[in-house]
Amino acid sequence: MSYETILVEQHGPVTLFTINRPQALNALNTQVLDELVEAFAAFEADPGQLCGVITGAGEKAFVAGADIKEMAETPASDFYAHDFFSRWTSHVVKQTRKPWIAAVNGFALGGGCEVAMMADFIIASESARFGQPEIRLGVVPGMGGSQRLARAVGKAKAMDMCLTGRMMDAAEAERSGLVSRVVPAAKLLETALKVAAEIAGMPPLAVLANKELVNAAFEMPLDQGLIHERRIFQVLVGTEDKAEGMAAFIEKRPGVWKGR
Ligand code: CAA
Repeated sequence: MSYETILVEQHGPVTLFTINRPQALNALNTQVLDELVEAFAAFEADPGQLCGVITGAGEKAFVAGADIKEMAETPASDFYAHDFFSRWTSHVVKQTRKPWIAAVNGFALGGGCEVAMMADFIIASESARFGQPEIRLGVVPGMGGSQRLARAVGKAKAMDMCLTGRMMDAAEAERSGLVSRVVPAAKLLETALKVAAEIAGMPPLAVLANKELVNAAFEMPLDQGLIHERRIFQVLVGTEDKAEGMAAFIEKRPGVWKGR
């Protein structure tokens, strides 16, 4: 399938999604979001694709937000009638069981910060800047920013950022737990693809299960989360990949995975 506003490339078992509107700092208009929905469904359905990376074209921005020029022209009734942002924010994020990493280069503002936070984790370049500046436009985050930022960095910083619209640089984002790693800009994509390939080389059922469990930590009370974790552990010990993984360790050789 070909797209106009995003680029999709396969690097072995890793799919690279590049939001490609550098002239608008990769702002998310309806077409970008619709194309991402299609591309993520294809990624999820392809048994040969095991991990994703999402990034923005150009050096200046990951994504500078939802497209303000499009939103300025959109009647309020359309936001409600079309449940604006929901296909992407709820459906795709919930239905994508395979992991995907955000490789954040430059500005990740508003919807850009929100897309990055929807990813399973964020690898940032030293030039990355995160923010939820919607307050300056007279609105609030609309793709989960207030909720995910508060969970990622805690109330104090989330309030500070949402109420002032200020940006957080890469060092502060790493200190605050928003991003998992910071690398020089020239190494960002290479690092993200390498980390994704590493994940794609892990036992596939264990990849899906580990992602599911970490996400469950944000949805479940601790006692239920611990039971859920134990049950999944007890299921995975019955897989062929568990027998192979443990044999490979004992025999000091790499494992060969079957995904069953
Ligand atoms: N939507 C549409 N166009 C955007 C855009 C956006 N979010 N962000 C940047 N652009 C466009 C600019 O209009 C400009 O286009 P023109 O050349 O046609 O004028 C081009 O991208 C380059 O931008 P700037 O000239 O502004 O670049 P800069 O270096 O001076 O500033 C910036 C960079 C600080 C990121 C600034 O562009 C900016 O503040 N952008 C808007 C950030 C923002 O408010 N994002 C939140 C949007 S609301 C949202 O996302 C809602 C939600 O939660 C879902």
